[in-house]
Amino acid sequence: MDGGKYEEDLGIDRQLDRQSTDKQMLFAKHQDQRRSLPIYCYREGLLEAIKEHQILVVVGETGSGKTTQLPQYLHEAGYTEHGKKIACTQPRRVAAMSVAARVSKEMGVKLGHEVGYSIRFEDCTSKKTVIEYMTDGMLLREFLVDPQLSSYSVVMVDEAHERTISTDILFGLLKDLSRSRSDLKLLISSATLDAEKFSDYFDRAPIYKIPGRPFPIDILNTKAPEPDYLDAAVSTVLQIHVTQQQGDVLVFLPGQEEIESAEEILKYRIRGLGSKIAELIICPVYGNLPTDLQVKIFEPTPEGARKVVLATNIAETSLTIDGIKYVVDPGFCKLKSYNPRTGMDSLLVHPISKASAMQRAGRSGRTGPGKCYRLYTSHNYKDDMEENTVPEIQRTNLASVILTLKNLGIHDVVHFDYMDPPPVEALVQALELLTVLGALDIKGELTLIGRRMAEFPLDPMLSKMIVASEKYRCSEEIITIAAMLDVGNSIFYRPKNKQVLADNAKMNFFTENCGDHIALLKVYNSWKEAAFSTQWCFENFIQVRSMKRARDIRDQLVGLLERVGIEVTSSADELDAVKKAIISGFFPRSAKLDKFGLYQTFKNRQTVHIHPSSGLAQSLPRCIIYHELVLTTKEYMRQVIEVNPKWLAEIAPHYYSQKDIEALKLKKMPRGEGRATQG
Ligand code: CDP
Ligand code: MG
Repeated sequence: MDGGKYEEDLGIDRQLDRQSTDKQMLFAKHQDQRRSLPIYCYREGLLEAIKEHQILVVVGETGSGKTTQLPQYLHEAGYTEHGKKIACTQPRRVAAMSVAARVSKEMGVKLGHEVGYSIRFEDCTSKKTVIEYMTDGMLLREFLVDPQLSSYSVVMVDEAHERTISTDILFGLLKDLSRSRSDLKLLISSATLDAEKFSDYFDRAPIYKIPGRPFPIDILNTKAPEPDYLDAAVSTVLQIHVTQQQGDVLVFLPGQEEIESAEEILKYRIRGLGSKIAELIICPVYGNLPTDLQVKIFEPTPEGARKVVLATNIAETSLTIDGIKYVVDPGFCKLKSYNPRTGMDSLLVHPISKASAMQRAGRSGRTGPGKCYRLYTSHNYKDDMEENTVPEIQRTNLASVILTLKNLGIHDVVHFDYMDPPPVEALVQALELLTVLGALDIKGELTLIGRRMAEFPLDPMLSKMIVASEKYRCSEEIITIAAMLDVGNSIFYRPKNKQVLADNAKMNFFTENCGDHIALLKVYNSWKEAAFSTQWCFENFIQVRSMKRARDIRDQLVGLLERVGIEVTSSADELDAVKKAIISGFFPRSAKLDKFGLYQTFKNRQTVHIHPSSGLAQSLPRCIIYHELVLTTKEYMRQVIEVNPKWLAEIAPHYYSQKDIEALKLKKMPRGEGRATQG
């Protein structure tokens, strides 16, 4: 009946009304919050300065609103008219995602519509997108697609002080582009005060300073150095929790591993304190944090409880978490360094710089007086810490970046306009590697192989392996392996109380000493056969999150194969073909067993060890290819596979002489297990 229908419609209308009132209230709340940020008072001044100057350096303390507000101001001021977008780069993917989520809320739009993000292997933008948060690496890739960046009206290089290698390369490219595109606005934003350097580099671009709200911070140093910083950090958190007034705690730890152990110890020790203690909510934050856990960081702490955020450097300047009153700073971070002589990358725990220590302390005094507990002495701070962290470009493998530059037509990579030039040795090494991989010819010009390799957002060796899979007709298997390797060392799950079960489950994939790469392939294919089931992962001690990520990456790689015109073909059970494709990319990373039962890298004769987590750690094959060399307590090879030495000479005759290989074949092999070695 008509009347009934009318009633019903009215019901829906009322519901919609309520929903839109809720929405309006939320929107109003967000607008209030926006107006309360330090940057708000400078909105007009900033817009004026941007209008007047093509390049502007913006400096303001972390939390002042640079990342979330500046792109919105520009959007509101009309910079996104005529179909142009605003790009804002972030050194870290988690930051790009969470900031985009925040800004989409503030604007009351759906994430991925007007406000989106793009990170490697994940594009959350659409035709509607006007504000795009992206990793600096993604903007670098954008240059390959559109060297004029013609879809952008403004590029904001955010967190410039982090000086990641991608940010540094962007500086050079953007400075150059700004000359030919006078309509492009460039913002360089930084949280630290050494803005002069940025200004000098960009032809003395003006600096706009956003004053912070200084709250006093009480810095407490330990009297003596702490022998175990993890234990000291946990104890300090508990001490704060029990003795200090309300306010959340932020602890800086070097990496995911340390964060996970700290979480475990904290939970254990909290249980020991009994039920009288207030609730302590533990939130881990690190670069690879899964999306579902990212939300938890920003949830307000319930009345009576205390939140403790265990974070890597990411919380130093990239992410601002409200409500932090106490900072615990053990004084360490994980730092990548690269040895061009051995070609070895290492990720080691390193003392932080003074600049970092100041940033960390600053996190406690954002909304009121704060306290920073430094787990090192004031003497350590004064005498042992460097002023600033060395820019990444001076301590990393350059192969990937050089390949990108070459692909952009920048031939003379030595005289590129670097803000701080990389060591010549590292440049030479990168050029050499790209040459032996066949990406560059002897004149240093990009080859067809190099052009195809550059399409993949991966390490050049992985890209080469993929390109070579065409020849061996095994691209199907190789992209699976590439995706699994790219996910990293988080495939197998080994809970403390079920280690034996977990190890047994793992060994099922390592049959016949097949090697780690092939085992990863088996894991993926078995999961696929089980219809990508979560239950299957659970039963086999496999991390479902990592598998899903591998699947996503793999899907993207299928698309990229199509783009470079490589067919997806399977070698079925011909594993030798797969191994040959791997060798095509990784032949420089070979090692052989010497007569003492130790491994030596083929070219540098450096002693190295198979990582205990490898399936080949016990069987000690004579000649192997490794995926990466990591320096922890020893020089460990991670992900290794046995290869026939003949194949090395067959696939890379320009790298291995017949003599190299003959010598290897003649060598007497030790019997039984390799000797225990000292690192
Ligand atoms: O970039 P900057 O450090 O200057 O500040 P911001 O990241 O724009 O942060 C401004 C405000 O937004 C802070 O109060 C943050 O707590 C808040 N914010 C948030 O609630 N959630 C995010 N994902 C990012 C920022
Ligand atoms: Mg920021």
